[in-house]
Amino acid sequence: MSERRDPSRRGVIRGSAAVGGGIATAALLAACGGDDAGGQGTDATSTVSGAVAVGDVPVGGGVVIADTETVITQPAAGEYFGFSSICTHQGCPVATVTAEHIICPCHSSHYDTRTGEPVAGPADQPLTPRSITVTETEVEYS
Ligand code: FES
Repeated sequence: MSERRDPSRRGVIRGSAAVGGGIATAALLAACGGDDAGGQGTDATSTVSGAVAVGDVPVGGGVVIADTETVITQPAAGEYFGFSSICTHQGCPVATVTAEHIICPCHSSHYDTRTGEPVAGPADQPLTPRSITVTETEVEYS
């Protein structure tokens, strides 16, 4: 009897499934961000638009789109919200999204995932909202 074992393949498959979680997705996409040294971010007068696949916005989390300095959240199934990803404290990009909070790694400001209002940390102004349109396949934002 010739038994073939391939434990490394099994491990890879399990690892990929684990990456599907909300925080991991947000962190991975945030890590793809540019090297904007200015840290000033996109202000409310600039033109920002884009779209993200609904499947890339985890329920109970969200996704940070570094290229357009946008964070899209989905705190509950079918509830989408969009904001600038630039922290109002000192301009760092937010990096982590949970069901309740959008979190800036620089000084740990926390923002509400539905309103963008600061709920903890030094930030005292809300994240700038983005207009969003949800289709069957995408969350479009501007
Ligand atoms: S820059 Fe975000 S908490 Fe300070």
